[in-house]
Amino acid sequence: MVRAKSWTLRKHFEGFPKTSDFELKEVELPKLKDGDVLFESVFLSVDPYMRPYSRTMMKEGDIMIGSQVARVMESKNPTYPVGTYVVANSGWTTHFISDGKDLQLLPSWPEKIPRSLALGTVGMPGLTAYFGLFEICKIRAGDTVLVNAAAGAVGSVVGQLAKIGGCKVVGSAGSDKKVAYLKQIGFDEAFNYKTVGSLEEALRKASPDGYNCYFDNVGGEFSSIALHQMKKFGRIAVCGAISGYNDTVPQKGPYIQGPVLWNQLYMEGFIYSRWNDRREEVLKILLRWVLEGKIKCEEHITEGFEKMPAAFMGMLKGENIGKAVIKV
Ligand SMILES: NC(=O)c1ccc[n+]([C@@H]2O[C@H](COP(=O)([O-])OP(=O)(O)OC[C@H]3O[C@@H](n4cnc5c(N)ncnc54)[C@H](OP(=O)(O)O)[C@@H]3O)[C@@H](O)[C@H]2O)c1
Repeated sequence: MVRAKSWTLRKHFEGFPKTSDFELKEVELPKLKDGDVLFESVFLSVDPYMRPYSRTMMKEGDIMIGSQVARVMESKNPTYPVGTYVVANSGWTTHFISDGKDLQLLPSWPEKIPRSLALGTVGMPGLTAYFGLFEICKIRAGDTVLVNAAAGAVGSVVGQLAKIGGCKVVGSAGSDKKVAYLKQIGFDEAFNYKTVGSLEEALRKASPDGYNCYFDNVGGEFSSIALHQMKKFGRIAVCGAISGYNDTVPQKGPYIQGPVLWNQLYMEGFIYSRWNDRREEVLKILLRWVLEGKIKCEEHITEGFEKMPAAFMGMLKGENIGKAVIKV
């Protein structure tokens, strides 16, 4: 018999999450029925969406939502022999039983890169960067692209894809160490938004002519200022709004209509799953670029399932460079 440990939402978050909002529970899993597969989680992901979606998708007592790279321990399903790896959406749990539906097989994974990348650059965050940049921003060689939360899972891929696309890339991030990392992976300009003093001046200095494309992971005040520095007919991909995820009172203006109108901007929100039909095709491209060294991947790995709440809160605070992952 296998005992599964799971982190549950003890209490809905109010403001910034607290350790006491989580509760670790342990249950004994039943025997497998025909068609069932028993998995152990190997790597688990902590992502910003868990903060807003916990409110809309979960009730108190539920296992925290999330995805993992998991390995088959026992199987009564021929599609998933023992030892097979998958990406699953089974939440913050060490072990789980699946009927084989809604799993993504990780077939032949190259030896030289870790399987955890299937939760990062060669997974959901990589797809998000790709579709936001190519389908929403519609980048063209010579464009100047601005991205915030640039040293994170999505942002770091956005910058490198924009370089592959022949663009000038400006990134904003929350520490000097992150800024140095951005320069190292090829960003043309990078600054620490927490210490620049005037964000308006920092954006102008990084690109005096303004920006053709803006990949927005942050929203709020940053966006209110950035929209004024878009070039005419600039394109904006609204990917995330992390600056507001922990707010108890919604942020107030300045409002966006003025600069959107004056600069005749195109602004569109998107969720990566809109292009689910192209998932496999784009993951192959991302994996190839990683193997060719065109995309560098950094991971912020926390060891130990017990530390998942701390890793989640740490990511929301900005402790991670690259993808925040938990190694069980
Ligand atoms: N639309 C989609 O399909 C989709 C898919 C995945 C992710 N997203 C969104 O994309 C964004 C980035 O996600 P990710 O997975 O790549 O996370 P991440 O960037 O790896 O981690 C979150 C980062 O956000 C930054 N941050 C936190 N609070 C902030 C604040 N108040 N102002 C500015 N920055 C703040 C921190 O970096 P700093 O140190 O730089 O502050 C932190 O490291 C999130 O908004 C997320 O919701 C959207």
